[in-house]
Amino acid sequence: MIRICPSILNANFDELPNEIAKVAQVSDLLHLDVMDNKFVPNFTFDFERATEIIEGSQLPVDVHLMIANADTEALPYLDTSAASITVHLEACENPLKLLSEIRARGKRAAIAIKPATAIDEIKELLPALDMILVMTVEPGFGGQKFMDDMMPKVETARRWLDEEGFGATWLQVDGGVNLETISKAKRAGADTFVAGSVVFKSPDPAGVIENLRRLAMAVK
Ligand code: DX5
Ligand code: ZN
Repeated sequence: MIRICPSILNANFDELPNEIAKVAQVSDLLHLDVMDNKFVPNFTFDFERATEIIEGSQLPVDVHLMIANADTEALPYLDTSAASITVHLEACENPLKLLSEIRARGKRAAIAIKPATAIDEIKELLPALDMILVMTVEPGFGGQKFMDDMMPKVETARRWLDEEGFGATWLQVDGGVNLETISKAKRAGADTFVAGSVVFKSPDPAGVIENLRRLAMAVK
């Protein structure tokens, strides 16, 4: 099972309903990047605006919270209709507690790790996770180069999920995913792919998503 999640970070923010409509028929989830200008040096949406997008989206929303003090700052998002909430390990004091709270509210609970964070740091969280996000760029901006050297982390996570009975947990990559790099990520074991600029900088966003899916599915 392959999932493609377009990120609207590089879409036209003034015309979001229109931008989302372009990809709605061919995507699995909409990836919403929330940045607070503290955890990362960029700002995207405050909670109010993020909520508007979540509630107005035709697609289930995969919220990627790049925000500091996630233990408390992520809590308002539990009241939205987000399908999945991802918090950064580096932004949590007590990730296990926060993940349990996310799950208790009927949402998929996910943890993300930045490029400098070792995959071993999330091993003990596996039973509390519905998705692992291995960042393949430094979080903060779209349009960066895919980091091939993150693939060993994806391979390790895939091995844990398969060998330790967590086959239902999704394994996501985010950053620099395009028509060349998606195959590498799939080969390493990812099954859920965020794609931003390659989709929304194209004149045919839906066509790009179909091509990404075809390429990922071609990897056995
Ligand atoms: C980066 C964000 C990504 C970004 C991906 O911090 O988390 O979701 O939008 O954009 P591309 O696909 O352009 O790297
Ligand atoms: Zn993201």
